[in-house]
Amino acid sequence: MPVVTIMPSGKTIEAAEGSRLLDAVMSSGEAIAHKCDGNAECGSCHIFVQEGRKSVSKIQRPEYEKLDSIIGVGSKSRLACQVMLGNENISVELLGFSSGF
Ligand code: FES
Repeated sequence: MPVVTIMPSGKTIEAAEGSRLLDAVMSSGEAIAHKCDGNAECGSCHIFVQEGRKSVSKIQRPEYEKLDSIIGVGSKSRLACQVMLGNENISVELLGFSSGF
């Protein structure tokens, strides 16, 4: 099972391969906004995937279009609700602000 390391706290949690990153972060007890309940519509679950980007699911069109519309997006940006975990450990960075609307 992949281990998700959540920065900046450094908390780690094991999650099943194929499970949703948003659910893994929430089950760790870390606060992460998710205003549209995972429909790639609000952008509030914007995070950076710092390590392990290649092992997670690829960006699909709805996520790409939402990311394109929000502020502070970079090459490591993903919407946590759209990321399915692969079989490798990953490290993600929660943003201290909600960049979506
Ligand atoms: S929860 Fe709204 S885009 Fe992820």
